[in-house]
Amino acid sequence: MSDSSNQDPLRDMREKALQGGGPERVETQHAKGKLTARERLDLLLDKGSFRETDMFVTHRTHDFDLDQRKYLSDSVVTGWGTVEGRLVYVFSQDFTVFGGSLGEVHAEKICKVMDMALKNGAPIIGLNDSGGARIQEGVVSLGAYADIFLRNTLASGVIPQISAVMGPCAGGAVYSPALTDLIFMVRNSSYMFVTGPDVVRAVTHEEVSFEDLGGADVHASTSGICHYVADNESDCLFMIRLLLSYLPQNNLEDPPFIPTTDDRLRTEDALDSIIPDDPSKPYEMRDVIRLIVDNEEFFEIHESFAPNIVVGFARLGGHSIGIVANQPAILAGVLDINSSDKAARFVRFCDAFNVPLVTFVDVPGFLPGTSQEHGGIIRHGAKLLYAYCEATVPKITIITRKAYGGAYDVMSSKHIRGDLNLAWPTAELAVMGPEGAVNIIFRKELAEAKDPEKRRAELVSEYREKFAHPYIAASRGYLDDVIEPRLTRPTLINALEMLSNKRDSNPGKKHGNLPL
Ligand code: HXC
Repeated sequence: MSDSSNQDPLRDMREKALQGGGPERVETQHAKGKLTARERLDLLLDKGSFRETDMFVTHRTHDFDLDQRKYLSDSVVTGWGTVEGRLVYVFSQDFTVFGGSLGEVHAEKICKVMDMALKNGAPIIGLNDSGGARIQEGVVSLGAYADIFLRNTLASGVIPQISAVMGPCAGGAVYSPALTDLIFMVRNSSYMFVTGPDVVRAVTHEEVSFEDLGGADVHASTSGICHYVADNESDCLFMIRLLLSYLPQNNLEDPPFIPTTDDRLRTEDALDSIIPDDPSKPYEMRDVIRLIVDNEEFFEIHESFAPNIVVGFARLGGHSIGIVANQPAILAGVLDINSSDKAARFVRFCDAFNVPLVTFVDVPGFLPGTSQEHGGIIRHGAKLLYAYCEATVPKITIITRKAYGGAYDVMSSKHIRGDLNLAWPTAELAVMGPEGAVNIIFRKELAEAKDPEKRRAELVSEYREKFAHPYIAASRGYLDDVIEPRLTRPTLINALEMLSNKRDSNPGKKHGNLPL
């Protein structure tokens, strides 16, 4: 027989667990403009969908009188719930308990939900807010981190792994988010670094603030660690929900189809005049993208890092796509070290999770200079080439203007298994731009010319007429078609549906050797 009094201890314990580190610490957390671990999960997950696991877990440490201070749940809240009705697993570090620090049981709880996510094929989302390894637990907490790193690595490419950094994330702790697919950060309240400002000062005598060393903006623009910066925590959690709408649950599923109200056959006259007459003039590639995709909705990631290439998610006719686009408005859309890295990682992410790739090309080549050469543009550019070559998802390419040199090959060309390669009439496919080409092949003639500038202009104009168009490539089948820009949207939707059953594979191997 059961009566309500039997349930009192259970209710009491649950009530206690829900208080985390207690009202004072919750207040301190709120005073910093931060939500608690459970409040964050409430915003991330569909209302009422959260199911908590391991609420009754407590740490097992006796040293430093820690056995006198135990908190139900310890310093992380774990479980599962839904986002738009789709299952996700979550962990949310609780800074109000031991500063969210990670010891043995904290890691065990995270590993349990990671194992469940992998076994059941659903994304795992980690909300990080932690002082790092629990100092009182010593090497045990280091081993505990490694247990997580291993799982991050084994789950990579099987289930989407998303990290939000919503407070401190320091020392070796940074490597768990770093191993996941995407990192979100919150401006002014989250930071990541391997060694903090004090250690930096001691070792290098550099004075630097938390924000300048490892804040959201610096990681979004300079290091490239962060993919999305939110102004506040609720925006951050909302954007993670939005991101998931473009992704499948795991590598064996396709991304969700979300019917659109946008006309599938919509033509867009503005595209016919979007490319400036002067081939050296910039234009905004994101305008091109927005005019084509469903309801102008483009979820750009990595926006501030290497902005000379644009990457992000959108839908065409309801189908999720990953977009890679050279950005002529910044550095003429040139490929350099950072843009190669950025795009390579995105291409591999999309390929791992069956998100078709649509590539917009306007690229004058690779950026020249000693800093690029010595920094390893060969190695980094090779990553992007490798990523496109190995990708087996549907690959559709639209050349809007320039496709010069090696960059033509790299940017999802026909030769590296582009499925449908299209060009606008404004496309120019050549080994290099007319000016550079004329300077090389007519060097002697120009040196001897009476009026070298006039002669150069004539030769450039001849070269442009002869080569700066898409029809030589089209005549060889390197381009499948040249289309009127205004027809791009219906053409792409048709192509995506034509390719929807695509099957392709790579030779069996343990794994390739990406030029890291
Ligand atoms: C145990 C910790 C802790 C930790 C914080 N706390 N970090 N307890 N282990 N790593 C506790 C504090 O003692 C304090 O408890 C409570 O959490 C809140 O911390 P405060 O310092 O009061 O908060 P705040 O002023 O906001 O400062 C936050 C902080 C600071 C900047 C994160 O706590 C800090 O510097 N912590 C240490 C960070 C660190 O060096 N971690 C190790 C990194 S190396 P009480 O009870 O006093 O309120 C690492 C290696 C990982 O993590 C290796 C993986 C391979």
